[in-house]
Amino acid sequence: MTSDPDKQPSPITVTSLARMKRDGEKIACLTAYDASFAETLESAGVEVLLVGDSLGNVVQGRDSTLPVTLSDMIYHAACVSRGSRRALRVVDMPFMTYADPAQALAGAARLMAEGGAQMVKLEGGAVVADTVRHLVDHGIPVCGHLGLTPQSVHKLGGYRVQGRDEGGARRILEDARRLEECGAGVLVLECVPAELARTVSRALSIPVIGIGAGSHCDGQVLVLYDMLGLTPGRRPRFSKDFLAGRDGVAGAVQAYVAAVKSGEFPDAEHSY
Ligand code: KIV
Repeated sequence: MTSDPDKQPSPITVTSLARMKRDGEKIACLTAYDASFAETLESAGVEVLLVGDSLGNVVQGRDSTLPVTLSDMIYHAACVSRGSRRALRVVDMPFMTYADPAQALAGAARLMAEGGAQMVKLEGGAVVADTVRHLVDHGIPVCGHLGLTPQSVHKLGGYRVQGRDEGGARRILEDARRLEECGAGVLVLECVPAELARTVSRALSIPVIGIGAGSHCDGQVLVLYDMLGLTPGRRPRFSKDFLAGRDGVAGAVQAYVAAVKSGEFPDAEHSY
């Protein structure tokens, strides 16, 4: 990053993301959990840093995101904030911290004031609609999350592709429209067929960022440890090891950003 303030690229905001969607420029997003990676990702061109509750899996070694606490999220969000100047910082609200609008507002306020979050993400559709509106009305930007919502893993019966049948696809589209109406500024769509993701991305005016949702979304996100080949066990089908064949993390992230921008990633092999 340059030291000449006149040459600093302007910070990414929700407005910049909306403009990128209008201009057809793909948005590159990765998860981040600490300051060093935040700086590396941002310098390699990543526009959105998601402090995901996936940190429960990849940092804390848990088998789901359910045990992650608000304090955990504030701690990691603050670490990321110290390493980041330009990217938009989106921070997950953990399991059961947004079951009602007042509780959500109190938690989101802490994520912003103590963690440096610039947008909060919560999972679910119609059930969180009032909460989304309440947060937005109080000046808190919100990112929705539909499709495979990992906090509902036990209800979903595992980490499975969602929206394969007509009813499921219709519900996801309706939920997406509802979240936009309630003021959500971005939507993450996880593990759905590429055709459904295309329909949702076209139907909404807010940016749709996909993970395992094909190449027609307005942007892509991956879990950092997956795309660096660090996650133990089997990598999800939709993810790709960008470090393989490259000699460093910065190179891997630059390759990811280039592949997202060109639309080369995800290809059919990494989509449903
Ligand atoms: O927690 C997370 O990393 C996420 C992504 C999988 C989108 O929500």
